[in-house]
This record gives sequence, structure tokens and C-alpha cells, in this order.
Amino acid sequence: MCGIVGYVGEKDCADILISALSKLEYRGYDSAGIAVFENGKIQVEKTKGRLKDLEEKLKAGHKPVGHCGIGHTRWATHGEPSDINSHPHGNKRVSVVHNGIIENYIKLKAFLIKKGYEFISETDTEIVAKLLDYYYKGNPVETIAHVISEVEGSYGLGIVFADFPDKVFAVRKDSPLIIGAGENENFIASDVPAILKYTRDYYLLEQNEIAVITKDNIEIFDIHGSTIEKELQHANWDEEAAEKGGYEHFMLKEIHEQPTALKTTITPRVMENMPFLEECGITSDMLNRFQKIYIVACGTAMHAGVVGKYVIEKLARIEVTVDIASEFRYREPVLTENDLVILISQSGETADTKAVLRLAKESHVTTLSIVNVKGSSIARESDFVIYTHAGPEISVASTKAYSVQLSIMYLFAFQLAYAKGEISKERCSELTKMLTNIPTLIEKTLEVEAQCQYVASKLVNADSLLYIGRGLDYALSMEGSLKLKEISYIHSEAYAAGELKHGTISLVTKTMNIIAVATQDKLFDKTISNVKEVKARGARVILVCKEGVEMTEDVADYMVHVPKVEDDILMPLITAVPLQLIAYYTSVLRGCDVDKPRNLAKSVTVE
Ligand code: G6P
Repeated sequence: MCGIVGYVGEKDCADILISALSKLEYRGYDSAGIAVFENGKIQVEKTKGRLKDLEEKLKAGHKPVGHCGIGHTRWATHGEPSDINSHPHGNKRVSVVHNGIIENYIKLKAFLIKKGYEFISETDTEIVAKLLDYYYKGNPVETIAHVISEVEGSYGLGIVFADFPDKVFAVRKDSPLIIGAGENENFIASDVPAILKYTRDYYLLEQNEIAVITKDNIEIFDIHGSTIEKELQHANWDEEAAEKGGYEHFMLKEIHEQPTALKTTITPRVMENMPFLEECGITSDMLNRFQKIYIVACGTAMHAGVVGKYVIEKLARIEVTVDIASEFRYREPVLTENDLVILISQSGETADTKAVLRLAKESHVTTLSIVNVKGSSIARESDFVIYTHAGPEISVASTKAYSVQLSIMYLFAFQLAYAKGEISKERCSELTKMLTNIPTLIEKTLEVEAQCQYVASKLVNADSLLYIGRGLDYALSMEGSLKLKEISYIHSEAYAAGELKHGTISLVTKTMNIIAVATQDKLFDKTISNVKEVKARGARVILVCKEGVEMTEDVADYMVHVPKVEDDILMPLITAVPLQLIAYYTSVLRGCDVDKPRNLAKSVTVE
């Protein structure tokens, strides 16, 4: 989704804005622009396309020189990607960049047209700019407070007023914004990586707080204009963590970071070989109260929830429902006070997941979030939070965030099962020990990289793929399939292997490629029977299974072997790796933009 930056300091503002925006490219965008004060006047430059297109435009035309301004990468919602629809929007008096959606923009536009305003773009953002202009009587904070009282929807806004050429203003609701505190320079940004080159200190802007930054001052106000004191946050990772570090793509780097990310996430949650979630407020007494669990999330995070469902139900014998957040929020779910709603989100800002959290809270249901980004909205608003420690995930396709979400699902399931008396202390401890050994096993699993590259070379011209598996292998297949389709643009679907013959097998001919995942001993023979069924219809089969398994060519064309875990229940953590690598190399071989796939955004802050 859109990226916002703002800068006031002594350096060249345009350069800083573009460099900061480049750190937000992962969010997904289709146009870019800046507004910089030059000789006291707001100069706007913007274009459809990538940041390099903006840079070329500045080089060929006019690059505004100044020390204060705002910048934006746009992910189109209202109006196609075009020069005109690009941000900033406004006029000589005020200029605005926006992330989010203004829901009542039609009504506001009609009002402004009556007042004599003309509109040139199709964006909802232009309405905000004109509304600010309409209400502006010399006091920016007052004006912003007035405007946000009329605007419905979500917004992160960076604003400059011509009367204040040394100030950047910011406000947010349901779209993230941070205020970076540097030395003789201050920033606004949608996310921490944008400022890391300059500072690791920042403030988190809360709902409807208004920030005013100058070169050496940051002030934050509530909507009544009263000053708010805030705690300074410190990013505990540096710029390098948000860089590629020698890898060709962030995705590959992040796949390789999984052992470390898992270790960092698991270690503080294990004490004497037992799960230890008490530091997050999760006690056995509390866990015993729940009779039903809902896991709600979007995309990859939802897939982590599907694995969680299998594991929790198997071990803790409690009913778990997994839901897509955008469905759950409108399906009038039956929630009672003995339910637990678990929200999983890497960014902690996903609009639909956040809406479910609020719905659960309105229904007085306990909420637990599993979130990677510290201080994000979902983390702050839920009753309990367990942070995953994946570090910054830049590639749009989620990999390490998925693995750490899985690891928390396991720890939670172990603790819950033990609290409910469904597993003994010995069994709980044994499983926990196995989990702590997973990072080492993943190091070993990464050795399949060359094999996955080879498999990818066989998939590069595929039109369509099916991922099949049973039980946990099916749960994992969903994620494998999503990975492949989102970055390689090859159609693919995950299917429960046993369900194939109820319809989908009619698609299977010799042009169909099948990735079969078979790591669960109990279900192995059954999955292999399904593999034989598709093989008999000419499909090309890639079998992902545990080391030691051998199959003849009439079952599988290619095999990828992964290390065994003592208990099959933990296999998804291992098997995720080859599926990620197959998707990665297929995307590379097809020449796709691996880290920034078309039309996708890392953090989906609009509905
Ligand atoms: C977007 C991203 C996915 C992610 C999903 C949920 O679609 O591209 O990678 O899984 O949002 O994001 P969250 O931040 O809530 O985990």
C-alpha cells in the first residue's frame, strides 16, 4: 500500500525523500511523487511508474531544491495509476500525501464543488487537500483537526502548508505513521525502514494524533490541540537488516533468515523445555476458560492459522475455526465470552484483520494477536500479544514471517494442551524440545536449494499447477500454492488430495503439474494413492517427502527430500522451505519482479 515520507532538516530534501521512499518500495506502488519547499514555495513533481521514473523526470526537468517536504509512493485505489492521480495533491497553499481510503469522499466532493472547487484527479486524496484549503484560516493543527472530524475512512496523511515552509504535519487513523527523531532533522514515514539510514529513534503516532515536525522539534497534539507526551521508541535492528545483504532478492535472504528468526522467536518462550507464554500474560488458568478458538487473518498469516488449527485440535482437543478476515467480519459470527479470537498478522496493520479485532472486542471476546511489527495497531489494541521476532520482512511474499507464526502456533498449542490436561508434562516437554531443534534442521533443509532450482526449471513454462496433500501437508500446500502464484503468476491451487476425485481430477492431463506433499506417516500411503491417480492421467509429479523415501518414476518425476522431525506434527516448519524455494526460483526464471509482484502490496491497509 502507499508509502509516505516527510523530511525537515539541513540536507537535500528531494534526495532524502526518494531514498526514504525506496525503503518503502516493498509496500507495493505504481506511481511516486514529492512536494518540496523551494524558495518558500511548494514545488510538486510526480509521475506514474517507479521511483527511478521520478528520478529521471527530476533529472530531465526540474529537481526542487530545499530542506522540507513530503513524498509518496501510490498504490492505486481511486483512479488508475497516472501522473495526475499520483500524489501529492493540493494547490499553492497546501499539499497532501495520503495512504488509505476516504469513504465519504463523494459527499465531501459535492460539498466542495458547491463551494467553487474544481477537481483534476479521480482520487479521494484530492478531496482532503481541498478540504484543508477550505478550512484553513492560518492555524494548521486546528485545520487538520477540523478536517479529520469530517472525513470518514482510513488515512495516514503527510501535509505541508505554504505558510509554514519549515514544517511538516502528519495525522493518521487506521493507517500507520511513525515520526522519526534525528539530529537536526526529523521525519515522518509509513514504516521504520524508511528512516533507518538516518535514525533508529521514532515515535508511534496513535489514532487521530497530529504531529508537527521542524528541523529540531517534534510536537504531537490531540484533536483538541493539547500537547501529548510520547515515549521514544528505538528500532533494535539497523539499516543492514532491511538491506539485501548480498542476496539477489529480499525473498531469498528472508528464506535463509528463517533459522535465526525462529531461534529469536522461540527461545524467550521456552523455559526448562516447556512452553513459556506467561510473559505475554497467557496463563494456564486463562487458557482453561476457552471452549472455542477462532483464528482470523489474511493471506499467508491465515495459512499459518490453518496449520495452527490442525495442531491445536489434535493436541488440545478444542474446536478451532480458521477464517479469512474479510469474510469473518461480515458473516455475523456467533461469538461468546468463552471464545478466544486469535489474530495473526505480520504487519499488524491489515485493515480486515484489524476490523475483526474490533468486532471481537465489541463482542467482549478475549483477543490474542500474533504480530511481527512492534507497536502496530493490532498489537496495541488486542488483549494479549505474542510478538514474533522475524525482523523486518521486506519481500511482499511472506516467508520468514510465516515460519515464526507457525512456531507460535505450536508453542500455544503445546501450552494449551498441557493446561487442559490433554498431554502430559513429558510429552509437552518432548514436543517443545523438538521445536527448539527446528532452526538447526532448517539450516540442513536449506541444502535442498539446488534441487528446488532444478524443479523450478521444469515449471517455468507451466500454465497451471496443483498442490496436493492431506492433513498438515494440505494445510502447508495452501501456502506453497499462494507463494508460487503470487510471485510467478502461474495459476495454482491447493487441493486436499482426497478431494481430487470429486471434480478437480478432470483438469488433470499431461499438461498438468502437481506438487504432492507427503510428510505425514499416517497419511502417506493414502496420498501416494492419489499421486498415482494423477500420474495415471499423465500429470508431471513433484513429490516433496521425508529423507529416506524412495519412489519409482511411475509415481513421481522429481523428488525433493527434506530432513525428518521426530514427530510429524512439526513437519510443516521444515517442508515450507522447499515450497518457498520452488516458488522463488520459478519466479526468477520467469523474469518476474520477485520482491515486488504486480498488483500486490506488503501491508494491505485498505479493505
Ligand atoms: C498481504 C501480503 C501478504 C500477507 C497478507 C496479510 O496480502 O502481501 O504477504 O500475508 O497481506 O498481511 P499481514 O501483515 O496481516 O500478515
